[in-house]
Amino acid sequence: MPPRPSDRWHRPRHRNRRLWIPLLISGFVVALASLESSAPVLRRANALGRRCSPDHFASPASSSGGDILRPRIAIVSFSDDREGLAASRGGGRPRRSFRGVMETVEGNKRAYAAGMGYDFIDAKGLVDRSRPPNWSKILAVRSHLPYYDWVFWNDADTVVMNPAIELENILIAVIGHSDFHASPDLVVTEDFNGVNSGVFFVRRSAWSESFLDTWWNLTSFIRFDSTKSGDNAAMEHLIGRLPPEESRVHVGVAPMQCLFNSYPWFPTWKSVYRLIFSPWTTWQGAYSDGDFMVHLAGLDDKRRWAAKFLQQMRTI
Ligand SMILES: *[C@@H]1O[C@H](CO)[C@@H](O)[C@H](O)[C@H]1NC(C)=O
Ligand SMILES: *[C@@H]1O[C@H](CO)[C@@H](O)[C@H](O)[C@H]1NC(C)=O
Repeated sequence: MPPRPSDRWHRPRHRNRRLWIPLLISGFVVALASLESSAPVLRRANALGRRCSPDHFASPASSSGGDILRPRIAIVSFSDDREGLAASRGGGRPRRSFRGVMETVEGNKRAYAAGMGYDFIDAKGLVDRSRPPNWSKILAVRSHLPYYDWVFWNDADTVVMNPAIELENILIAVIGHSDFHASPDLVVTEDFNGVNSGVFFVRRSAWSESFLDTWWNLTSFIRFDSTKSGDNAAMEHLIGRLPPEESRVHVGVAPMQCLFNSYPWFPTWKSVYRLIFSPWTTWQGAYSDGDFMVHLAGLDDKRRWAAKFLQQMRTI
């Protein structure tokens, strides 16, 4: 006997409504599980074909050219222990502590610099106490620039993870050739927020000196916030305001963030949001085995993370 029309139309609809909730829940669980598994996938991005090594971009500098042609490069860094203390004023543990970071990563940086013939400089003595310590990177770079062809600035919360990669080859990958005299003066990476001031190269030139002086003078950007000091925003403002032609000639942006400024990827609300809405930016910036440098940007307890990455580096 055929079902009555009302049965035919009402029953399935009723069943569908009951299916709704378990379907939604299982969909949510599947989504969560796949996000949970995206951490190891991103960590293996290079093995999966991501092109982050300098030799994917331009032919590397030949070492047979002799040492005379090699640019003089200084890796400059410092960390100010008071940064964590300042953030903790008013009780509680320091939110974003840099305490002990420099001690933890200094050996890594010195060994890399010594192996490659660069200088490593801890510019701790140059900190200007009237501003948040991050601003003093400008003074540190500026004061060492006269003595080198290039200064490679590293925030303290960075670790060289692949010491076989030469800085010259990273520069060649960005500028597209090995004539350093015809190179941009400032070489940076971009992340979700645009230019990142945590790791960058500056070439000795009149343009660079003026850029650094102007950057330092952007005092209206100074913030005394626990996570934002304003130096990054000021740098971005300055680059954004350059006439297009000046920007093209003087500022080189790495084709991939992971060329020299990779961020560790963990499934947090923020990183998951970014993975969904900016998958390409996430993909090209997430730290993967084989990348040159990991930058613990945005992480708390940096000393512990730095130690963890150093440990991993020894076992790679
Ligand atoms: C930066 O400010 C100082 C002091 O006000 C000034 O002497 C200098 O010319 C400024 N430099 C640049 C590049 O704006
Ligand atoms: C200083 O720079 C570090 C490294 O990029 C960053 O994690 C930290 O949040 C900055 N501190 C402030 C106060 O902006």
